[in-house]
Amino acid sequence: MNDELEELLKSCLDDDYEEKSLPYRQTMTYYRCALREVETKFRVLDEQFSMYYDRNPIENIETRIKSQTSIMKKLKNRGLPLTLESMQENLFDIAGIRVIGSFVDDIYMLAKLLLQQDDVHLIERKDYIAHPKPNGYRSLHLIIETPIFLANEKRWIKVEVQFRTIAMDLWATLEHKLRYKKDLSPERLEEMATDLYEAAEICARLDEKMTKLKASEKRHPILK
Ligand code: GTP
Ligand code: MG
Repeated sequence: MNDELEELLKSCLDDDYEEKSLPYRQTMTYYRCALREVETKFRVLDEQFSMYYDRNPIENIETRIKSQTSIMKKLKNRGLPLTLESMQENLFDIAGIRVIGSFVDDIYMLAKLLLQQDDVHLIERKDYIAHPKPNGYRSLHLIIETPIFLANEKRWIKVEVQFRTIAMDLWATLEHKLRYKKDLSPERLEEMATDLYEAAEICARLDEKMTKLKASEKRHPILK
């Protein structure tokens, strides 16, 4: 079927929308379930960690499913077919989970412990902490695949995991808001880019300082 996602979006007021949209809704349920699975994995690690150290390495967990319009836009921009199949094959960030950790070393530990699990397959890893983006953006991104267990089948679902510290998240959140200020002159835009880059460096220094203040914590053998 050609451009089935676009047809679906256009037909949302039709009487048979419920029936027509069933395959799409079913697929999105798989992504939602995968997010639950991955979130639980982090909650478990957080609990186990707090047992040994009396503190939680995770400050916050956010999950989101990409909207139908964002999915369409991304497929269109990449010149890919607007079908459910193409969406599942080509888009790796339909299910997204963001883990805000306390310290940079906690982030790497959490990523390692997640990838160690035998039902987690690593598809892609981008370390924007070790190699920040030119604008200053820092985070550790993983694309993983993990199974969900349905009534009669097991399905492997892709999930994008973003790890950030509070400082990295503060910067990314505000930068995202400022990016949509389109009414600025080219000079002001350039100034803002420089200022944002400096702000990102300040956040990185803050993370470094906080890590030093934490002092050395002897890693428990289980969490090494
Ligand atoms: P996308 O097409 O956006 O998925 O790009 P990509 O596949 O190259 O992935 P990348 O790892 O660069 O970024 C994916 C996600 O990370 C984005 O959707 C944002 O949530 C976040 N991100 C990446 N770069 C930036 C940035 O410069 N600023 C902010 N605020 N977020 C960013
Ligand atoms: Mg993305």
